[in-house]
Amino acid sequence: MIYDGKDNDIISQYVTFTKVYDEQVKLYGRTREAVTNTINICKDRDVLKEYLSSREKEVVDMMMTLFDEEQVMRAYVESEKKEAAEEAAQPEEEAAQPEAEAAVSEALADGVLNVGTNAEFPPFEYVDDNGEPDGFDIALIKAIGEKLGVEVVVENMEFDSLVAAIGSKIDVAIAGMTVTDERKASVDFSDAYYDAVQYVIVPEGSDIASAADLSGKAIGVQMGTTGDFIASDDVEGAEVSRYNKGVDAVNDLINGRVDCVIIDKNPALVFESTFEGQVKALPGEQFEFGTEEYAIAIPKGDGALLSQVNKALEEIKADGTFDELVKQYIEN
Ligand code: ARG
Repeated sequence: MIYDGKDNDIISQYVTFTKVYDEQVKLYGRTREAVTNTINICKDRDVLKEYLSSREKEVVDMMMTLFDEEQVMRAYVESEKKEAAEEAAQPEEEAAQPEAEAAVSEALADGVLNVGTNAEFPPFEYVDDNGEPDGFDIALIKAIGEKLGVEVVVENMEFDSLVAAIGSKIDVAIAGMTVTDERKASVDFSDAYYDAVQYVIVPEGSDIASAADLSGKAIGVQMGTTGDFIASDDVEGAEVSRYNKGVDAVNDLINGRVDCVIIDKNPALVFESTFEGQVKALPGEQFEFGTEEYAIAIPKGDGALLSQVNKALEEIKADGTFDELVKQYIEN
């Protein structure tokens, strides 16, 4: 029987939520990231449905022990453990088969590469005059799609929802996304295609100039970004304001609601020129921020897609397309 979404909605969601949270806690500890990811995953109806359709019996069983959170949690952990043990006990039939050369990912079987982005991050992605996502990343993924012989469909979503949507709502994400160990727990990354570093945007005349100056400051960031993680985890006593869009953080900076904004170098430079005379973008090196690398996020374990994307990326670099795009979008 397949879960039809009609009954037990609340209890099902509760059970799912608990399970997802449990997994996220394993990955991130009891942090804001675990909570945010859980909320995002559970918000995604497709993920929820898919999960429930395979778990209806458990959901029903779970109802017996309902209202006792600990029992529900424990039951889940047990069932997960059992499943893992069963899986481990099964002979690996698939692995025994010789791997076909240049395997094609199932994600591309429909001839479409569904790409998630957050078009609030110029020059890598922004909404153009026709209301369509454009920018370096968009052009790059379209070039990759061309190499792979598939149509590229770009979906603009919140940055903070991208990782959780990979493999369900979208096939891959390209969003100036930094490779991090935390994200690697949920997704795989292509070869890196761009080096980055966080910058600090300050109002003209601000005396913020070093890492020590950031302590205790009101810092604006885009939610769920590496700038957010730096402000939240590394800056002592920071009062962090999280925005859906980087530009909203910059607007609040101009309005005096935050003291600075931590955001990636290239968007920082774009905002500096958009709001010329009002704000300054300070290099992250001044604040001892480490370098970051952007890569395309791919469903965990889809080795075929990973090598297809990497191969396309390599070709695009070799034939000069990549440098053209850098010139057109980033260095212009
Ligand atoms: N590089 C940063 C990160 O991975 C920020 C990326 C934000 N990208 C965007 N399209 N809004 O967290």
